[in-house]
Amino acid sequence: MTLRITGMACGYRGRPVLEDVDLAIEPGEIVAVLGPNGVGKSTLMKSIMGVLPSLAGRLELAGEDLTSTSALTRSRRGIAWVPEGRRLFASLSVRENLLVSARGINAAAVRQRLDRVSELFPELMTFLDRPAWALSGGQQQMVAIGRGLMSDPRILLLDEPSLGLAPLMVRDLFRALDALRGGDMGVLLVEQNVEAGLSIADRGVVLERGRISMVGTPEQLLANDAIVRSYLSDSA
Ligand SMILES: Nc1ncnc2c1ncn2[C@@H]1O[C@H](COP(=O)(O)OP(=O)(O)OP(=O)(O)O)[C@@H](O)[C@H]1O
Ligand SMILES: [Mg+2]
Repeated sequence: MTLRITGMACGYRGRPVLEDVDLAIEPGEIVAVLGPNGVGKSTLMKSIMGVLPSLAGRLELAGEDLTSTSALTRSRRGIAWVPEGRRLFASLSVRENLLVSARGINAAAVRQRLDRVSELFPELMTFLDRPAWALSGGQQQMVAIGRGLMSDPRILLLDEPSLGLAPLMVRDLFRALDALRGGDMGVLLVEQNVEAGLSIADRGVVLERGRISMVGTPEQLLANDAIVRSYLSDSA
């Protein structure tokens, strides 16, 4: 299912942070969103999820107009959001955190989805009964992504998954995310670790001054001096 956004404006209290956003996410691809702090990357994700009403434009999933629908409807249609900062239920176990996203689904389907999460993050299965507060940051991030996947989404919105993780954890995380490519789910990825983000992305979108300023393949973006200077200065 393709997610298609056309002419979207999003922001707060009627004031746009982003305008004229045209973006499509196809099944099986990872689209990376780049841009400076505060440009509106998280705002875009909130608007796509529908937790923040968009100010203009249209959002379609598989040709169905979802522009005026609630976050609940969008989640039922197959959009899942893993927000910045993980937001797990601290006192619930890992298993309970995962099952929150699989309510109303029969036991066989739940098992199937858990199997899929365990393929991606085998380690998760070794601490299913531990409370979320007792996990490391990297483990919590696995749970957060796993929870997103438990709803069996068609579109997964990942906001800064590697934030605060140790380098080894980041490596494992990107390996797992790379394995999501080519399936039936499209991923929109916001990542401050631009190099790693682009390394697993099929396309990248750059946001600047309230708009999309550039789109391209990772190769095209990495061949652009301004991009390298702005986002990869450490490694340039
Ligand atoms: N709840 C809110 N109410 C009003 N303004 C907000 C709210 N959340 C964010 N903003 C503003 O919207 C703009 C975009 O913020 P957003 O969090 O989307 O940026 P971002 O690109 O995700 O930044 P970062 O890289 O730091 O995560 C910022 O100017 C921010 O101050
Ligand atoms: Mg953000």
